[in-house]
Amino acid sequence: MSPSDAEPAAPSPEQLLELARRAAAQAHAPYSRFRVGAAVVAGGRVFSGCNVENASYGLCMCAERVAAFKAVSEGCGQLSSVAVSCVDADAALGAEGRMPCGACRQVLAELGGPDLPIHVDGVGTFALADLLPRAFRLR
Ligand code: THU
Repeated sequence: MSPSDAEPAAPSPEQLLELARRAAAQAHAPYSRFRVGAAVVAGGRVFSGCNVENASYGLCMCAERVAAFKAVSEGCGQLSSVAVSCVDADAALGAEGRMPCGACRQVLAELGGPDLPIHVDGVGTFALADLLPRAFRLR
């Protein structure tokens, strides 16, 4: 096996966080003015996403789910790590202003399982099961 056949090295947490920060710059967030970026590793590839809002507020989509769904739609549905960056977080809120929402936790649980590492910019790294204990499953 030549070196070019080798699996590319997985990005470090800091590299993945930097990709999430860059993705946040693409956010369509004219209503909340709260830009979020996410990056996921899946199938040895990295997929990034940003939040996409809509004038019909219920249609707004979080950055984590955009990134995760991009991975699924490219045939890489098994996530191995996630980074999320809330670049406009209110410093006064501390960690709570930067954590993934409950809906995204449920989606990540389905696609990554309980040990999935979630790197939260400015906060730290969590296993999915610590953020969403006893996640709902059908099978
Ligand atoms: N948002 C995310 O992108 N991810 C989260 O985990 C929490 C919230 C977005 C949705 C909306 O566009 C904005 O942040 C404010 O809620």
